[in-house]
Amino acid sequence: MADKKAQLKIDGFDETLELPIYEGTIGPDVIDVRSLAGLGKFTYDPGFVSTASCESKITYIDGGKGVLLHRGYPIEQLAEHSDFLETSYLLLHGELPTPEEKEKFVDTITHHTMVHEQLAHFFNGFRRDAHPMAIMCGVVGALSAFYHDQLDINDDKHREIAAHRLIAKMPTLAAMVYKYNQGQPFMYPRNDLSYSENFLHMMFNTPAEEKKISPTLARAMDRIFLLHADHEQNASTSTVRMAGSTGANPYACIASGIAALWGPAHGGANEAVLKMLDEIGDETRIDEFLAKAKDKNDPFRLMGFGHRVYKNYDPRATVMKKTCDEVLAELGLEDDPMLKMAMKLEKIALEDEYFQKRGLYPNVDFYSGIILKAIGIPTELFTVIFATGRTPGWIAHWNEMIGNEYRIARPRQLYTGHTQRDYPKK
Ligand code: CMC
Repeated sequence: MADKKAQLKIDGFDETLELPIYEGTIGPDVIDVRSLAGLGKFTYDPGFVSTASCESKITYIDGGKGVLLHRGYPIEQLAEHSDFLETSYLLLHGELPTPEEKEKFVDTITHHTMVHEQLAHFFNGFRRDAHPMAIMCGVVGALSAFYHDQLDINDDKHREIAAHRLIAKMPTLAAMVYKYNQGQPFMYPRNDLSYSENFLHMMFNTPAEEKKISPTLARAMDRIFLLHADHEQNASTSTVRMAGSTGANPYACIASGIAALWGPAHGGANEAVLKMLDEIGDETRIDEFLAKAKDKNDPFRLMGFGHRVYKNYDPRATVMKKTCDEVLAELGLEDDPMLKMAMKLEKIALEDEYFQKRGLYPNVDFYSGIILKAIGIPTELFTVIFATGRTPGWIAHWNEMIGNEYRIARPRQLYTGHTQRDYPKK
């Protein structure tokens, strides 16, 4: 029950409306505006700037303070003490696993990593140079063709199996996309390797040669997946929820999330950061590009900077910077000119009044691209890595929605087009 109420006076209505206000466990209260529809009135909020689209217990962000909690646990602590699969379990189940539960979960994921042999044929339909995200949208959507008829989304167990399959198969598909682009044979997953080692194995090994996976790089990869695991109601997660609200197949819903993630304002930013650094070229041109970013007549934005929710440091960026230092030290790339330029750009932007006034700080994508490049992952594949990491978040939100009361998502609009008119007589 809501104790607090908001009063709303609307021109033309005698009565003052009382709207319930709900309190979360932390974070801002929300005003329940649902009763407005009964009066034929709607709220207007393009981009959902002031709208809570659902109730959720998974992730909490305080953008002003730079806080990110998964099921209550700060992201910094998870990055330090947990790993990607344990964090995935936490997102899905609400609690950290016991050692036995963790072992069983890791074993289950490990034994779901292979994809149906027929799925490999789908790749041949794509051009060899197709963008990895285009292929990813297609092949993840295609999973729905393999798991549809027997799937009852209202059955908890079926939803859990779908979650396991998706978390397990995403790195396999991501690596297959890379191998297809390279013209190399697909590598089967190996059950003796950890999640991240296995991904690096499927990416960089060949049937002719299997190199040992560096533990530092595997740890960095795991951390990148973990730092992307969830981020409450972002554009792609909201897309997954919206598609899921129609009762659609979960694999198709995740494919819709992948499509939403692709854009440069969202997951595509990590690729865009590297392209931007390439374009800037060297430190002498930083001022020129900062001026472009500040110019309202120029569409250029400083990629990897700014966030809808964080108006302070993105806590994921802080951890990512540390991982970046570790990876570059392991690979002997501390003096990498691109990294040096990125650091200089960050410093200058942070001291600039324009960025300070608008609360524009580096976000997670500013550093993830630099690490991925150092590991040897091509720029076009960066967003595919983001999608792999975000999968447990997407599926946890989908599961939370389907497991509770929900309605089909169906926003309204402010119509400003023509009023009714007659078709011209011929
Ligand atoms: N460079 C220059 N100016 C910027 C930037 C930027 N990167 N980001 C925002 N601004 C300015 C913007 O022009 C506006 O200025 P003014 O108030 O004078 O009109 C003000 O800051 C607020 O921007 P906004 O567009 O209203 O903010 P938003 O919340 O709608 O957009 C954003 C958030 C992430 C889309 C945007 O900051 C952006 O385009 N950043 C670059 C792309 C990027 O790095 N995206 C990754 C986000 S983190 C990973 C993820 O979650 O997907």
